Amino acid sequence: MNVDEFIVSKTDASGRLTYCNRIFIDYAGYSEHELLGQQHNIVRHPDMPRSVFHLLWTTIKSGNEFFGYVKNISKDGSYYWVIANVTPSYSGAGTDAKNIIGFFSVRRKPDPAKIRIIDAIYKEMLLAEKQAGSRDAIAAGTKVLMDIVNKTGKDYREFILSL
Ligand SMILES: Cc1cc2nc3c(=O)[nH]c(=O)nc-3n(C[C@H](O)[C@H](O)[C@H](O)COP(=O)(O)O)c2cc1C
Repeated sequence: MNVDEFIVSKTDASGRLTYCNRIFIDYAGYSEHELLGQQHNIVRHPDMPRSVFHLLWTTIKSGNEFFGYVKNISKDGSYYWVIANVTPSYSGAGTDAKNIIGFFSVRRKPDPAKIRIIDAIYKEMLLAEKQAGSRDAIAAGTKVLMDIVNKTGKDYREFILSL
């Protein structure tokens, strides 16, 4: 991936893909036809903790901007890391959560040193999620992440952007 590449996708309010740019399509390894209309989890990698996506969805559904590192899987099983920004799109009737008509994401290739930091955190979160069992997984994964974030004295967003 070149540093000047932006990987872009848009979804409807339920997370179904409505737009993918050429770079997104190339990384995903599917045709545009195979992607559009599918849930965005078509690129979900099994190494990703569930609690990261829980944080993503609670953030964007409440009208806020999410930043996060994501390991995505391609059709051929290979993976690629991104630093993603995800934002809500509104109908034009105001920026109230009820006017959200979809979501928009722009991603770039992260610095390898930052990937190493995040990869280690996600491994710890995933382990905590597995040990907690399905029902308590989100709480357990979130606790691991927030304990790390809180120790820095920053909030999640500042932590991610300052890595
Ligand atoms: C605009 C937007 C972009 C997203 N980008 C990704 C992504 O790049 N990779 C990913 O695994 N999930 C992404 N998601 C989250 C997925 O919708 C989904 O929640 C996630 O893959 C986990 O799958 P699950 O919700 O079925 O457990 C995105 C969601 C939205 C709304």
